Amino acid sequence: MKQYSISPDGEKFQLPDPDDYTKEFKRLKNKVRDQRKQGREIVVVMGVGFVGAVMAAVVADSEDENGNPLKFVIGMQRPSPRSYWKIPLLNRGVPPVQAEDPEVEPMIRRCVKEKKSLIATFTYDALKLADVVVVDVQCDYLKESLGNVRNGQADMNALEESLEIIAEHIAPDALVLIETTVAPGTTEQVAYPIMRKVFRKRGIETDPLLAHSYERVMPGKHYVASIRDFWRVCSGINEEATRRVKKFLEEVINTKEYPLTVLNRPIESETAKIVENSYRATILAFLDEWSLFAERNGVDLIKVLEAIRVRPTHSNIIFPGPGIGGYCLPKDGGLGVWSYRHIHGFEDNIFKITPLAIDINDTRSLHVAQLTRDALRNMSRPLAAAEILLLGASYREDVGDTRYSGSELIVRRLTEMGAELRVHDPYVQHWWEIAKQDEYPSTTHSLKRFFRNQDKLSDLHVEKDLKKALNGTDAVIFAVRHKHYLDLDPDDVVGMAGGPLAIIDCFGIIDDAKIKRYFELGCEVKGLGRGHVKRIKDQVRSEREGMLLAQSAGHGSGGAA
Ligand SMILES: NC(=O)c1ccc[n+]([C@@H]2O[C@H](COP(=O)([O-])OP(=O)(O)OC[C@H]3O[C@@H](n4cnc5c(N)ncnc54)[C@H](O)[C@@H]3O)[C@@H](O)[C@H]2O)c1
Repeated sequence: MKQYSISPDGEKFQLPDPDDYTKEFKRLKNKVRDQRKQGREIVVVMGVGFVGAVMAAVVADSEDENGNPLKFVIGMQRPSPRSYWKIPLLNRGVPPVQAEDPEVEPMIRRCVKEKKSLIATFTYDALKLADVVVVDVQCDYLKESLGNVRNGQADMNALEESLEIIAEHIAPDALVLIETTVAPGTTEQVAYPIMRKVFRKRGIETDPLLAHSYERVMPGKHYVASIRDFWRVCSGINEEATRRVKKFLEEVINTKEYPLTVLNRPIESETAKIVENSYRATILAFLDEWSLFAERNGVDLIKVLEAIRVRPTHSNIIFPGPGIGGYCLPKDGGLGVWSYRHIHGFEDNIFKITPLAIDINDTRSLHVAQLTRDALRNMSRPLAAAEILLLGASYREDVGDTRYSGSELIVRRLTEMGAELRVHDPYVQHWWEIAKQDEYPSTTHSLKRFFRNQDKLSDLHVEKDLKKALNGTDAVIFAVRHKHYLDLDPDDVVGMAGGPLAIIDCFGIIDDAKIKRYFELGCEVKGLGRGHVKRIKDQVRSEREGMLLAQSAGHGSGGAA
């Protein structure tokens, strides 16, 4: 039976037949022969997802001093029904990822169509032709409970499978650069034994040339720059691997302006990545309790943080918003904690802060449902059956990446409580975690399983028309700081909604003047970390009472005349 892979735009691609593999390898060999004649090194990037696709293009775009491509890049992706479509799209010069960075699309097109330094393939045989293999497949951390990261495990299947396949195919002296964020110890204690065993079976007596260098890529407007023009850390398994990885990164990354840090062992590079992200997760989580403190004691945490940020040593203090999403921060600390026992064999429990931070971040957004409930209650509207609009489905501002976004839990909890949800997001075409909730992020690990009554969410589509989305809604939740929401005028919002509504600000989006105006218009306002709204509400109420008093006094004197 023929199998198909369907792109996000709905285009259907037939998966390759067994015959196609021989033809494809022949095509690759011919291309590689020509490329080698031009002195180019052959780089295979394994996994053309969010990171791999753009990394492949950055490598393919690198040039010598005369402007000639230095490398010929083959993006390699397994031909699964879920991912195969990425290959034909890349081969047309179309990015397989949705990127807000205007550099992504022309760079991929340029490399495929003009420089002819980038192609994509589905056959693992491509690995036989590689001088360098860059590994960008995923390594997940699967949580079994909501708010308890310790109850989970690293899912290294894709990575382990990839490493075995790489070892079965590559030339003995090919450099294998793992860019995947991994549990510390993986390169030396997981990858090396897997590859060495396969090498020995193949009769290869040398060791695999393994190295690790992690990506610090940030989705958004500077996606390409966050790969190419950014500091890198790397380390090789031995001297030769270290020399090779250094040489490779110096050729493809802007290491002149963003110098490379070379660490002694891969576990140090792997730990650097995990500590980097755990640190960020921790400083975000730390503010959760202060956010509640602020709400209960008339404090505006947004202004407090602005005041603190003035001090140079504290300039990176950040407001956490409704939960910390994205692919990396929710999982990376988990990989670290897991490795201590499962890779390094320790039994004691040294980790306290890192897992706690992740647990706090993973559940912070549930509080938004409580604020919504309370705001509606203050307006004498029950939450059950209320129409609630969520503004922003992605995990951060001005990107379309919805992985582990706080918004997902807000929608799930409010749905469980009986509300009717609508979603608006200018950047998100398909909110897969909701629209295909039985498959995303995987068939066994949808966040759906932690909530009741979720089935109807499969029909929730992302509305693009804000006016339509707002019409007749009882509450609106400002969940993400997309630029489209920053300047929304209260009179317009209430006008589009058709009357007063509950306003929930999760990200310090609404300033005091707007909060005041919403109250004047008869709305109720609540916000994460925004305890001062009560003061503004009281002020509006006393102004209104003052006006009424003045009016009735005016009427009184008029009557006497
Ligand atoms: N997305 C980010 O913002 C970001 C930032 C920094 C680091 N990272 C890290 O980069 C790595 C990759 O993340 P991503 O966001 O690109 O993930 P992704 O899921 O988008 O991409 C992984 C790709 O690898 C492919 N793949 C899996 N097994 C394969 C195999 N055997 N052969 C070939 N291809 C295979 C998958 O089909 C997929 O296309 C992760 O370790 C992640 O933690 C991601």
